[in-house]
Amino acid sequence: MATLTVQDNLQQFSTPGNLEDVVFKSIEFVQKTLSENRNLVLITAGGTSVPLEQNTVRCIENFSTGRRGAISAENFLLADYNVIYLHRNGSSFPFERKFVDYLDEKSKRLMDIFTIANDCVNIAENFPKDLKDSLKHYELLKNNILTIKYTSLSEYMHYTHAICNALKPIEKRAMIYLAAAVSDFFVSNSDTQVHKIQSSDKLINLKLSPVPKMLGKLVESWAPDAYVVTFKLETDPEILDHKAKSALIKYRHEAVVANTLHDRYNTVKILTELENIVIRLSEEETHAKVNIEQKIVEKLIKFHVNHMTSI
Ligand code: PMT
Repeated sequence: MATLTVQDNLQQFSTPGNLEDVVFKSIEFVQKTLSENRNLVLITAGGTSVPLEQNTVRCIENFSTGRRGAISAENFLLADYNVIYLHRNGSSFPFERKFVDYLDEKSKRLMDIFTIANDCVNIAENFPKDLKDSLKHYELLKNNILTIKYTSLSEYMHYTHAICNALKPIEKRAMIYLAAAVSDFFVSNSDTQVHKIQSSDKLINLKLSPVPKMLGKLVESWAPDAYVVTFKLETDPEILDHKAKSALIKYRHEAVVANTLHDRYNTVKILTELENIVIRLSEEETHAKVNIEQKIVEKLIKFHVNHMTSI
């Protein structure tokens, strides 16, 4: 049986009500980027959700926090790229995630960092310097990022397609950085019941269909000139290299970043047609809270520059 592609199948995914708005905003941001003579990266981040009912009460989720995408977005912004940040609603957000880390570390709630006196809201005295820096960076760079939120797999599919199409005028100056964890199985429209699945003592059977692969179409026709980076996640390190290499050969895109679930923030491998680079944080770097995304982005920007200057 021939593999179905997203292009054959985009109609399997219900069209989001605000798709036109996403198209409009993306085109506008691409025009702005062209007028500023900058490079642009589309970053996807976080997990997609598969609804079990059309009026959704229950859904299938995955582990992704969006952190990889958020920290990568910070590094691209600091390197003067414009960023389209397509992220799971409620997942990690560039610069803001530092505040979340801080609250987490200190076991504090958001409202613990504010005080109120004479109807004036103040920030708690010991506001750490790196949080101030994050705030400064956000203030400085917020016009260089377009944020688009998704929740469901359908939204992710339609938005990615629409944004890639909008990127075409940027040609080789566009990078596509697919860090999202996209569901591999879903309940197709025709198998999704309208109302809440009723609880009962009986077993229920869910029919999960494979999600059509969109990467082939993306590389071939949605964004044929862009520098395309995908991520490959496995839990078994033994099969990771092989899977990453196979993806590169099959989809003929520019780079795969291979990582394992539990070590993903310490070690990654970047594979291209010519390179096979291991990036591993040293103990000192881990202690100093260096983010591995900084190193991934540095490398990929170098590769992107070569791509832009190639014929
Ligand atoms: O979000 P974090 O908690 O920080 O974790 C980061 C991460 C582990 C999610 C990230 O580093 C990562 O590895 N993301 C890809 C996960 C994965 O294994 O994807 P995949 O093998 O299902 O897909 C391969 C690539 O194609 C991915 O880049 C994916 O975004 C993309 N894809 C997959 C299927 C599909 N239908 N459309 C896609 O775009």
